[in-house]
Amino acid sequence: MITPPRAVRDRILSLSPTELPAFVYDLAGLRVHAASVRAALPDRVELYYAVQANGEPEILAGLGPFVDGYKVSSDVELAQVAEASVARPRAFGGTEKSPTELADALERGVTRFQVESEYELYMLAGLAQRHAPDRRVAVLPRFGLPVPRGLLAADGTGYATAAGLDPARADTIVGLLTDGSYPNLELRGVHAHLADGVRAGEHLALAGSVVAWTAELAARNGVRLTEVDIGGGMAVDYDHPERRFDWRAYGEGLARLTAAHPELTLRIEPGRALTAYCGWYASEVLDVEHGAGEDVAVVRGGAVHLRTPAAGRGDQPWSVLEVEPWPYSWPRPEVRREHATLTGQLSTPKDILVRAARARGLRAGDRVVFGLAGAYTSSAPHRAHARYPEPRFHFLGDGAQGDRSR
Ligand SMILES: Cc1ncc(COP(=O)(O)O)c(C=O)c1O
Repeated sequence: MITPPRAVRDRILSLSPTELPAFVYDLAGLRVHAASVRAALPDRVELYYAVQANGEPEILAGLGPFVDGYKVSSDVELAQVAEASVARPRAFGGTEKSPTELADALERGVTRFQVESEYELYMLAGLAQRHAPDRRVAVLPRFGLPVPRGLLAADGTGYATAAGLDPARADTIVGLLTDGSYPNLELRGVHAHLADGVRAGEHLALAGSVVAWTAELAARNGVRLTEVDIGGGMAVDYDHPERRFDWRAYGEGLARLTAAHPELTLRIEPGRALTAYCGWYASEVLDVEHGAGEDVAVVRGGAVHLRTPAAGRGDQPWSVLEVEPWPYSWPRPEVRREHATLTGQLSTPKDILVRAARARGLRAGDRVVFGLAGAYTSSAPHRAHARYPEPRFHFLGDGAQGDRSR
């Protein structure tokens, strides 16, 4: 169970059934949380927000005073930052960047590029000549460094992410960026987003290993590497929302790390752990079905909007807002067992929002509100990353009238 703030609760109860499901964002809560994260971090650690977690302009603007920049992964996200009108540096990362996206990002004055493949390096160098001829473009190659053994297995949370350049090619990449091959690119440092769902202690250990690896790379090649971006992936615990990432301990650990490496600027780019807590997904119970072994409460919407449970991160924390009276003449369906499964409307076992929810007495027409819904959710299916263009529809043969988008 998770209790929404009063303003969120009141807004949800004020909506008519036809206005559900809805996302309700607590911008005041977002600001308080972001301020506490910023306050926990030492000055020499830059906080970038990973826009892919939630690119709504109001969210981006709300975070504005507390972040040093935005990390974007597509032209769509760049446009979202522009719409939010927050003058902050932007770093462009993300796998499979297209030439058009890179050209657009160069023209929009993006300050840093996280390069994820050698092809991308060549492409960026070529495009920079044309689209940013008057400046040197700052580059941080992203390396897929191995996560130190045993680190993530320790308490069963977190998993490694594989993307990035082969670390075995690191000397070659450094050579290409420093031997004059690409005079319009400037090697600034290293980027490494190594894992997801990581607690503070483990994230610090990751940071330490990336910094040590970068320092060796710099020493071996006789170059200055002044920036290390250790990515995001700070844990959000959906099963225990009260157990938040320990930003204070993390900040203290990063302060020790930066003190030991005065030449370095450290950067982090969390998404989920910044915005998850401020978002609430509100819906209503449509029906309660009494199966042989369980009661199932079906809510309007579901995994089409809230993909976290289907993605295997645990159940979505929730609570009930009871609605009276029941306006119909027929009986009101109600959960009779102690526990029920809360599902969405898709007829697929993937559309489970909460298993074994303590739900005795939950009735059709009651409102349900799901917390931790501020990151990687979306008003449209599978668009959480907001980086894929919408497919157009082409009709061939009789009745065709050209192509159109929805
Ligand atoms: C390179 C990079 N940085 C930052 C993030 C943000 O991660 P999170 O939202 O888990 O903090 C991601 C997420 O996939 C990522 O790939």
